Amino acid sequence: MKIAVLPGDGIGTEIVAEAVKVLEVLDLKFEMESALVGGAAYEAHGHPLPESTLKLAKEADAVLFGAVGDWKYDKLDRPLRPEQAILGLRKNLGLFANFRPAICYEQLVGASSLKPELIAGLDILIIRELTGDIYFGQPRGRRTAVDGHFPGADEAFDTMRYSRPEIERIARVAFEAARKRGKKVTSVDKANVLETFQFWKDVVTEVHKDYQDVELEHMYVDNAAMQLVKKPKAFDVIVTGNMFGDILSDEASMLTGSIGMLPSASLNSSNQGLYEPSHGSAPDIAGKGVANPLATILSAAMMLRFSLNQEEAAQRIENAVKNVLAQGLRTPDIYSEGTTKVGTAQMGDAVVKALSAQ
Ligand code: IPM
Ligand code: MG
Repeated sequence: MKIAVLPGDGIGTEIVAEAVKVLEVLDLKFEMESALVGGAAYEAHGHPLPESTLKLAKEADAVLFGAVGDWKYDKLDRPLRPEQAILGLRKNLGLFANFRPAICYEQLVGASSLKPELIAGLDILIIRELTGDIYFGQPRGRRTAVDGHFPGADEAFDTMRYSRPEIERIARVAFEAARKRGKKVTSVDKANVLETFQFWKDVVTEVHKDYQDVELEHMYVDNAAMQLVKKPKAFDVIVTGNMFGDILSDEASMLTGSIGMLPSASLNSSNQGLYEPSHGSAPDIAGKGVANPLATILSAAMMLRFSLNQEEAAQRIENAVKNVLAQGLRTPDIYSEGTTKVGTAQMGDAVVKALSAQ
């Protein structure tokens, strides 16, 4: 088994270092190999996703990814910006199924901006389609408008599109996942306005015929954004397209108190996966040793579960994380009075210690 370790930019290097520490102490038989990605790769090789990095990722059973991006690259041509690295990995590895759990840990109920009773016990799974939609749809670009409100003016355009097989396979992933949990899927669309999402709704409804033991509800994305803060515990599995999933998963993450706690998995049809925290590179706190490594450590647990077939080791990590939270250790993003503030490395060390003590 081989893991490609791609720390990336900003806090990416700090948090991935802690996850690697945790993986090493498990003493499992796998090889880890690191490579540059994002802005770091652009600096060294002139490209955010160099051939060598892509090759390593393709050959590995799983990719452990930190984060990419920094404001200083915002002026680069789009193909050279750090974000293209993650989009390129998703596309080249066919990582169409993105799992973004939003779980509220008992000890962190007070860290959410919502009332504790609304989020205590929250356990939502957002399944975001990751290789289609307006993110990848062609054509896209800039041109001179020939029609619309201002013919002759400069304009820009992207294309929202989904094919039947793309919708079918992500719907199946969602129904299968729901079967193992609360048996309810909310399919989020904008069928009242968009052709793409009327089609989405129709196809999800057809696939549902094979999963009659799972409840299916349809919800417009604007309403879903509202229901997520109004009554978040009414959701079990949410399945949606790439763009809506991007937005709703950030919203859902904040329900739990901190985006610094949330892992994610992006899988292809052979269970090869890329595992990354749900948060970004946070250049504002990079290098300060204060970032929360738990989302990345929990992503490593998801990696063991989904791609490396090590369920027991995955649970050991998850229990160790609960253990350090119970000890009252908190990075600044989840700190509250009466708890102990620690930095990135101290948090990683505490997880390692909790693992060793199991
Ligand atoms: C995410 C991020 C990415 C996305 C960016 C960095 C391209 O926001 O993983 O949610 O939009 O998918
Ligand atoms: Mg996002």
